[in-house]
Amino acid sequence: SGPLRTHAEARGKFIGAALATSPLANETSYRNIAATEFNQITAENAMKWDATEPSQNQFNFSGADAIVNFATQNNQQVHGHTLVWHSQTPGWVQGLGATAMRSAMQNHISQVVGRYASNAAVVSWDVVNEVFDDNGNMRTSFWYNTLGQSYIADAFRAARAADSNARLCINDYNVEGINAKSTAMYNLVSSLRQQGVPVDCVGFQGHLAIQYGFPSDLQQNLQRFAALGVQVRITELDVRMQMPRDATKDATQATYYRNVVNACLAVSACAGVTIWGFTDKYSWVPDTFSGQGAALIYNESYQQKPSYTAVHDALAGG
Ligand code: G3I
Repeated sequence: SGPLRTHAEARGKFIGAALATSPLANETSYRNIAATEFNQITAENAMKWDATEPSQNQFNFSGADAIVNFATQNNQQVHGHTLVWHSQTPGWVQGLGATAMRSAMQNHISQVVGRYASNAAVVSWDVVNEVFDDNGNMRTSFWYNTLGQSYIADAFRAARAADSNARLCINDYNVEGINAKSTAMYNLVSSLRQQGVPVDCVGFQGHLAIQYGFPSDLQQNLQRFAALGVQVRITELDVRMQMPRDATKDATQATYYRNVVNACLAVSACAGVTIWGFTDKYSWVPDTFSGQGAALIYNESYQQKPSYTAVHDALAGG
């Protein structure tokens, strides 16, 4: 018994959730669970470029501030997500030439990170997100196509200049196990740090699916990154399934959640685990993977699922 955050705090870890601004403003159950169960918050969308700088140099922090204020009220830390990404970035950015794009990126980072630099709740940022393709090559995003790989180091340096204390992360998906993509990530982080680029942390998103199997070398993978001297964290955990739910699938899903939490607990450099939402009422999964869902730890009616119990018991040491 007792909320997840109590057990996480006893283990020196965070347990977090991504939050959406609309239910946070409008639903008491959503707000109460978010406040009581988690000690870490990530904005699911509110800190992304399309939300914070929809037109050049016209910043809008209404959603971001709502998340940060909620976290402050509830004694939770905030992980800023995300500064430089190929998705949810306005067309005006994508159409810029190289010199203008680099300046726009640096200005965006300076303004967004700078706004929260002295805020005690905001402790870390995803500086770049999803820079690789699944083969481990650089993703040929508009960032890469216009600026080449140098945009990554430039982004980290701009973030450090805007906040000398924040923990600066690189974040990606399908890097939970040891594979071509995670090895490319490993090599990039190693090389950036050798060049003095301020990469402090690596985020493993953790968008898992029971039908694809569990990445059994997760702990070993986290450990090899930790040996580079970076913090590691699970940033966007969810475990989807082919619908409808049944008890067997729920049990498998619960095992995946437990395994992820246990892997983080076993690696001292792992700061914690963020779940990508908490209720199946609000999840990106059904919108993206037709026929799949039920990926989170509460159902649509805010009832705890076996996956909740698994996270709870793992954190409680059971
Ligand atoms: O903002 C518009 C709103 O004005 C409009 O009324 C509404 C109608 O559908 O759409 C709103 O935008 C949606 C936005 O979420 C905010 O709700 C977009 O259509 C929708 O595509 C967007 O999806 C988000 C997705 O990132 C976009 O790439 C998901 O909520 C969010 O969970 C997901 O999160 C990403 C991480 O940032 C990075 N890693 C992968 C992860 C899952 O895709």
